[in-house]
Amino acid sequence: MQLDVKKDCAGVHWKTVSETLKRVGMAFYEPDVHRTAFEASHTTIFIYNAGQLIGFGRAISDGVYQAAVYDCAVIPEFQGKGVGKILMNNLLSELSHCNVILYASPGKEGFYQTHGFQKMKTGMALFRNSESMRERGFTE
Ligand SMILES: CC(C)(COP(=O)(O)OP(=O)(O)OC[C@H]1O[C@@H](n2cnc3c(N)ncnc32)[C@H](O)[C@@H]1OP(=O)(O)O)[C@@H](O)C(=O)NCCC(=O)NCCS
Repeated sequence: MQLDVKKDCAGVHWKTVSETLKRVGMAFYEPDVHRTAFEASHTTIFIYNAGQLIGFGRAISDGVYQAAVYDCAVIPEFQGKGVGKILMNNLLSELSHCNVILYASPGKEGFYQTHGFQKMKTGMALFRNSESMRERGFTE
C-alpha cells in the first residue's frame, strides 16, 4: 500500500464518500450533504492508496474538551489491513485534549475498544429515525 493521509477537504470526491458509506451499510446522503458535514467538522481525515480514497472519518468538536466521531469507514477491499487503525490514530491525535464519544455500528465495538473506547452506561440519543435505529440494533 502507498498510503497518504490528508486532513483537509480539498479535492475530495464526495460521490465516493457517499458510495462508500452506502457500500459499508452506514447512513449515506447526497454527495453535497457529506461535503457540508465534513467541511463543518473540527477534524477530517482522508486516507488514499495510490490516489484512491479508501477510508475517511470526521469529528465534530468544540476544540477544547468535547468531541464526537462520525462517518468512519474503510472500503471493503482494504478492511482488516490496518487502515482503520491509521484513521483513528490520526483523528484522535487531533483531539488529544478532548473526551471523545461515538456510537459504533453493531459488531464494530471491538474496533473502537482497541483504541481505548469503553462502552457507556448512560449514553442517550435522540435519533430522527428512531424506529429504524432501534431495528438496526443501535438503541433499546
Ligand atoms: C470498522 C472499520 C473502520 C475498521 O477498519 P479496518 O481497516 O478494517 O480496521 P483495522 O484493520 O485497522 O483494525 C484495527 C484493529 O481493530 C480490530 N478490529 C477491526 N474490526 C473489528 C471488529 N469488528 N471487532 C473487533 N475488532 C476489530 C483489528 O483486529 C485490529 O486490531 P489490532 O490492532 O489488535 O490488530 C472498517 O472495518 C469499516 O469501515 N467497517 C464498515 C463501516 C463501519 O462499520 N464503520 C464503523 C462505524 S461505527
